[in-house]
Amino acid sequence: MPFSTEIPFSNEAFLGFQELIKSLSGIYLSDAKKQLVFGRLRTRLRQLGISRFEDYLLLVQNPAQVAERQMMVDLLTTNETYFFREPKHFDFLKSEVIPNRDIKRPLRIWSAACSSGEEPYSIGMLLAEQIGLAKPFGWEIVASDISQRVVDKAKIGIYANQRLDGIPPGFLKKYCSRSTHSNEDKIEVSPSIREHIRFQRLNLNENLPELGKFDVIFLRNMLIYFQPESKIEIARRVVKTLHPGGWLLIGHSESLKDVDPKLKTIAPSIYRMT
Ligand SMILES: C[S@@+](CC[C@H](N)C(=O)[O-])C[C@H]1O[C@@H](n2cnc3c(N)ncnc32)[C@H](O)[C@@H]1O
Repeated sequence: MPFSTEIPFSNEAFLGFQELIKSLSGIYLSDAKKQLVFGRLRTRLRQLGISRFEDYLLLVQNPAQVAERQMMVDLLTTNETYFFREPKHFDFLKSEVIPNRDIKRPLRIWSAACSSGEEPYSIGMLLAEQIGLAKPFGWEIVASDISQRVVDKAKIGIYANQRLDGIPPGFLKKYCSRSTHSNEDKIEVSPSIREHIRFQRLNLNENLPELGKFDVIFLRNMLIYFQPESKIEIARRVVKTLHPGGWLLIGHSESLKDVDPKLKTIAPSIYRMT
């Protein structure tokens, strides 16, 4: 059934996008997502003056269309996130990871599907509070996502007042200030936190660039969009960057098994590399 009399969306076209996005990102768009794909791509077709989904599919199937493919990936990823999401992981960082860290080197954390930055900035505020902000740095964060649009937003670190609910009031006062770059009511995360975080676009479905080793990897609320084989492949690639004794945290509604015999389940959503 077409969703619009204006731009019909055939099953063949949907299957083409389903296959392409899976091969580019690993994300599996089930048949139930047809309406979502239609809604998210329709505006782009209009912007480009393209009247058929089949023609847009042909365009993005061409590997030379690097920017347009990135635009499509940006449109088809789901980037929902918020500050201090799943607070148990932050309690765990505070009670287990930080007190037992190797103080001879900086604690290194990777937010591997960081979306618009709320996750790495939440980690950053907690580390600033617990370890401090003095130089040389006692901690650093790498924050990455496949979507260029969200990485650009994350780098800026400016958020609407309605989005700050999870931030403890003391942290808000200390590590955020009213944004001077916007007329609306927005806050910006302090540069003293931002300078500890390196943001980059990175596709976990491809070979990883050299990132160094991490003490903790946040890989939260991303694996739900993958089928079991892609999930394991991505998790294997990611855990190779853990220090022995390092931690992998996934979303509370997610699960992982058969990734690496050295990766032990410590609690639901918390794994440790032995
Ligand atoms: C729902 S958000 C989760 C954000 C954050 N981790 C949290 O828990 O709030 C999922 C993120 O995974 C990213 N993502 C999806 N596929 C990816 C891939 N292959 N490589 C890197 N990031 C990916 C999406 O762009 C999106 O921003």
